[in-house]
Amino acid sequence: MSFFRPEVAALKAYAMADEASLIKVNQNEAPWDWPEDLKAEAARVAAAVAFNRYPPFEEKTLTEALAKRWGLPPASFLVGNGSNELLQALFLSALGPGRKVLVPSPTFSLYRQLALMAGAPVAEVPLKDSVAYKPEAWIKAVRREKPALCLLCSPNNPTGAAYPDEALGDLITEAPGLVAVDEAYAEFASGTARAFLPKQENLIVLRTFSKAWGGAGLRLGYAMASPAVVSQVRKALLPYNVSPVTACLGVLALKNAPLFEERVRSLVVERGKLIEALGRLPGLTVFPSQANFVLVRVAKGTAAERFLALKKRGVLVRDVSHLAGLERCLRLSVGSPEENKAQVNALAEVMA
Ligand SMILES: Cc1ncc(COP(=O)(O)O)c(C=O)c1O
Repeated sequence: MSFFRPEVAALKAYAMADEASLIKVNQNEAPWDWPEDLKAEAARVAAAVAFNRYPPFEEKTLTEALAKRWGLPPASFLVGNGSNELLQALFLSALGPGRKVLVPSPTFSLYRQLALMAGAPVAEVPLKDSVAYKPEAWIKAVRREKPALCLLCSPNNPTGAAYPDEALGDLITEAPGLVAVDEAYAEFASGTARAFLPKQENLIVLRTFSKAWGGAGLRLGYAMASPAVVSQVRKALLPYNVSPVTACLGVLALKNAPLFEERVRSLVVERGKLIEALGRLPGLTVFPSQANFVLVRVAKGTAAERFLALKKRGVLVRDVSHLAGLERCLRLSVGSPEENKAQVNALAEVMA
């Protein structure tokens, strides 16, 4: 397609097969939808929005609810259609030719695609044994690469490791540009970069309603940073980016925080049980995880073969073996207790 930039034409599009499956553990979604009474409340809240009017130019309701939750000023928040949209706005506003982004390897593959679209160079910091963060390597890399943006995914998708909190301060101080921490899975982990806000002017933290808040279908995420950083990233977003309906549903989720926090606690317990049960299966290496998914490596055969064998048994996992250093690896989301039993049983059969 000569109508497009050559690097775009050559890019393999980010894609996801829409496969109906009994046990869907391939996208790190919450295993439970919102309870019926909360969905009925959501319908009432949505109906109260004037569909014929544009919302206020600057989103206020959700921003204020977030400000209250986090104890930061409303001007420190930016909302988006999923954290993906905010990542895109961040890349477009901070990066470009000659303005490099530093990312872990392996990590969430969307980062590379966004960098390409922004025309920005990418430098990678390999993870230790391809799974865990090595803070010394990051300090060296920011000195060497002088990135305009240093992007941590913490906990990292798909390896599950978090960047150690105690090492984060040094990285933020050392980085010559922005430091973004994608905390899509932070509710399942023990740490967060939040403590460095609002002091650190170059820090931006990204969160989503897609995982811990059971709202992947809502498409809602947010960024927290200093008001100065927020006002620059905002320039890369389209006006009225988040629908007022979605924003109200975000407020409703926050009002019901105890429900979602309880669900997170039970998923963390389930994660422990899943890791233990997987660890008992022969021929499987299980990596520690601070997220709502677990990375495993099969000793024999290919990940693609195991993926297909699991699918035949009605279990849809993610084959991540194409990522650097993750040969023979699969990623399994932590599901409901029944889903976890089913995925362990299926894996036991497949590994036998
Ligand atoms: C690391 C990471 N960041 C961001 C996202 C995007 O989330 P959202 O649904 O908020 O766009 C995902 C989704 O899987 C993710 O794994």
